[in-house]
Amino acid sequence: MVQSTFHVAIIMDGNGRWAAERGLPRTRGHEAGADAVERTVQAAPTHGITDLTLFAFSSDNWQRPKHEVEALMRLFHSYLLRQSGRCRENGIALRVIGRRDRLSPALVEAIEVAERRTAGGSRMTLRIAVDYSARWSLAHAAGSSDLRAAIARANHDATPMPDVDLLIRTGREQRLSDFLLWESSYAELHFTATMWPDFTADELARAVAVFRSRSRRFGHVDAVEAAHGS
Ligand code: FPP
Repeated sequence: MVQSTFHVAIIMDGNGRWAAERGLPRTRGHEAGADAVERTVQAAPTHGITDLTLFAFSSDNWQRPKHEVEALMRLFHSYLLRQSGRCRENGIALRVIGRRDRLSPALVEAIEVAERRTAGGSRMTLRIAVDYSARWSLAHAAGSSDLRAAIARANHDATPMPDVDLLIRTGREQRLSDFLLWESSYAELHFTATMWPDFTADELARAVAVFRSRSRRFGHVDAVEAAHGS
């Protein structure tokens, strides 16, 4: 069966430690992380990735120091202003998923403009998760007869996202941190010690190559095994 979508989700971890290792403030790590986002977004379609979802700010991240939260919000804002034109040129539809009621009106406006500007992109859908919590979106969608569509609505996503095929987490930790819990039910997991600011297009290519070498059975058995079974 030919797969029509290839969804890669990334938990971009390690910005703070990358900065600390260099004696820099954490916010410099986030700035370097934004450069890694640009590299990854531009490289992704060349690997056949149709959907790329990046975990940029979890609902738990509001607990961070105020100046760090403000710096992150400024980075998201400037990314949307700077990159939506490039996304449009490259056929990338940009969407921001998650809650919007706690974001500043200026950021919400920038999100809406970027989404409108890039809506025609058909090469890849880039979802940036900001104020995102999988548990929150599931709780808000619970009880609906079409949970997938209800989750998308809760997250302001224009179309329900396909299941995650490959979930990458950088920064040495091996946990899901409330990211895409429903959508990652059958995701292949790839953990790397690389800190997010050091993540390169080559490393993305390696992760995709490892993914392609894996046998995905979705709870079934391989045809060969089935033929040999009793
Ligand atoms: C986790 O590293 C990273 C974040 C909470 C923020 C992610 C943000 C970016 C990659 C920058 C900009 C993003 C966009 C979309 C423009 P951490 O701070 O938890 O690192 P640590 O675990 O080493 O402290």
